[in-house]
Amino acid sequence: MVTSAGDFATRVVQWQQIHGRNDLPWQNTRDPYRVWLSEIMLQQTQVATVKDYFARFLAQCPDVASLAAASQDQVMGLWSGLGYYSRARNLHRCAQDVMQLHGGAFPRDAQTLQTLPGIGPSTAAAIASLCFAERVAILDANVKRVVTRVQGFDADVAVAANARALWAAASALLPAPRRAAADMARYTQGMMDLGAMLCTPKKPLCAQCPVQALCTATKAGDPERYPVRVRTLKRSSQALWLLWAQTATGAVWLDRRPTPGVWAGLYCLPLFDSEVALRQALPPAAQEQLQCEPAFTHVLTHKDLHLHACRVPLTFEATLGEGRWVSAGEWPGLGLPAPIRKLLARAD
Ligand code: ADE
Repeated sequence: MVTSAGDFATRVVQWQQIHGRNDLPWQNTRDPYRVWLSEIMLQQTQVATVKDYFARFLAQCPDVASLAAASQDQVMGLWSGLGYYSRARNLHRCAQDVMQLHGGAFPRDAQTLQTLPGIGPSTAAAIASLCFAERVAILDANVKRVVTRVQGFDADVAVAANARALWAAASALLPAPRRAAADMARYTQGMMDLGAMLCTPKKPLCAQCPVQALCTATKAGDPERYPVRVRTLKRSSQALWLLWAQTATGAVWLDRRPTPGVWAGLYCLPLFDSEVALRQALPPAAQEQLQCEPAFTHVLTHKDLHLHACRVPLTFEATLGEGRWVSAGEWPGLGLPAPIRKLLARAD
């Protein structure tokens, strides 16, 4: 373990001021709404992508009250293309809880923040430390790398039972309590920046690192060994057939996906487990027009989806089970999974 935590934190803070990221759109504010929104967006999405979405989202929902009052369709539409749509559903519910249970103001401590939908321990700590200077450690994937390497933490981070020890290892590095008010926001940002900019998964730039002299893994010459992850995610795959019924005017038949399940809450072409099942959903005359394409693959966190687009032109707006006809002008504004949006936008 690092012996002089104060020294570690001071180095991170000083480095962040000069070399860290200081002009991202969600920085230079202590507004918890903006910080929270950016943290949720950044959980599984790159900074460059989040910048655009963040600006668009704020233009339509500038504060927690406007987000709480927005319709689910509006929120899903604003999130469309970012993926991991449970984030958007939780975001909406969280805004409503902030209005109804907390008088419209975000709680100021990590423990209370964690009681809100979609806010886990690390996101709660990010908001509390960045906005309110609470002395709590964040532990997202980037910061896990920094902490495990510095501390030589070699227990399997994929095992839940080791999580408490890892939080303790992260907490041992925090600025001293008397420095918290001045340093916590910059320290938190500095840990994220170190993880993203220097302490990378492969070929970390140890020579440029402000805490190299304090880093156990660098001293041992094997930083890439950390974090140790023995148990790996089991992946599965699934084939699905998409019913792509379209009229001459470009209207498509869409259905909202049930919760829970893949793409829950989003509008989607009807999904079937086989071409035979899909065929049965069509009127007999339309079945002859059906053309199923070879599958393309869409990768989710735990699953590879092999998607067959099955096109059927219709001369009139027949009813095709659950769902409704959505005009060519309307569907682009709905919350759709990214691969479905791409498919519908195809020119042919
Ligand atoms: N990833 C998560 N939070 C971040 C932040 N505040 N700045 C940059 N990247 C991040």
